[in-house]
Amino acid sequence: MRDAFAAARNIAGALRAVAHDARSGRLEAGVGKSVEKIQMICVAFLESIRECVNEAFQRVASAEQLTKRVETAKRALRTLGVPMDVYEEKARKERQCVADAEEASIRSAAAYPEDLSLVVERLRREEERFEFHRSIYSDAHRVVGTLGKYSEENFSYGSTPFSSFLSAWRCPQVAEILNALPRNENNRAAVFGSSSGWLVYYLAYGFRFHSLGWEILPSLVDAAKSVATWRPELPRITFTAGDMLDAPLDETFALVALTSQCWDKDLTKAVHLKLSASLRPHALVLDYSSQLSDNHPQSFKCVAFKNVPVSWHPQQKLYWMQRMK
Ligand SMILES: C[S@@+](CC[C@H](N)C(=O)[O-])C[C@H]1O[C@@H](n2cnc3c(N)ncnc32)[C@H](O)[C@@H]1O
Repeated sequence: MRDAFAAARNIAGALRAVAHDARSGRLEAGVGKSVEKIQMICVAFLESIRECVNEAFQRVASAEQLTKRVETAKRALRTLGVPMDVYEEKARKERQCVADAEEASIRSAAAYPEDLSLVVERLRREEERFEFHRSIYSDAHRVVGTLGKYSEENFSYGSTPFSSFLSAWRCPQVAEILNALPRNENNRAAVFGSSSGWLVYYLAYGFRFHSLGWEILPSLVDAAKSVATWRPELPRITFTAGDMLDAPLDETFALVALTSQCWDKDLTKAVHLKLSASLRPHALVLDYSSQLSDNHPQSFKCVAFKNVPVSWHPQQKLYWMQRMK
């Protein structure tokens, strides 16, 4: 299954790149006439491959069936004149470029480069594993069934490279505030929806914040804990398996990172109310959407944003918002 899953992940990256090029009019001249059709076909194949992967998670589909689905997608697009080999290679190269940029930025900017580099390498290895994604799938399925208030999409997996996080961190409107904050227990950082720990490690090993992550899926929390280097001189890191709506947010939090891009609307609203009620004046919030300041203009203002590549999009906006008095 490992190879079939790796091929499915790679073709998904290629299909997203084809759809993106079709949308932005950058597809090769020869296929220009059918770009809309190509875009629709990419979306349909992405969905069909995703379904087959989910069936494989449930042991309903086999590796052969997944491989067949991937091959069908490639053949159909090749018939329409899309150079799929070029796009697959492009998807592979882009991942390599991101990995190189990430490693370079860790070396040049992280407070604890050895530790962060090791953690990132371990997390990247985790996210290639079929079993890792199967555990996320079954955890999410269980949480959806037992709590009855969340959708499956609320638990989508994605990751943000350190290089992207760093370029948001360097926004001039916030860099000075962030750098001036003393690193101690009265200026902690929290990540809501901390997944396998990426942003928590960036904040701690990258920028020396005592950091806490809340994540509702236990397998992701286990993965996050398993990659730590836990040296005594490192900033304190805590991972809690639970609903972030139950997280105690007090005046010791100077910074909260939200990962709201896939959250259900009601959850996002509830998190915003929680932040409005509890965050201290001048505290910063980082999110993949500006809804917090859009919907609570009396409490939060948007102070900066940056377009950065993430695993699900080549140009995702990261917003900085600040709590007003
Ligand atoms: C898109 S992922 C975060 C990935 C992150 N954007 C990154 O790039 O590293 C959003 C996370 O929020 C988690 N989540 C959703 N609802 C939650 C809740 N009520 N409490 C805690 N975590 C939750 C999901 O399980 C998922 O891991």
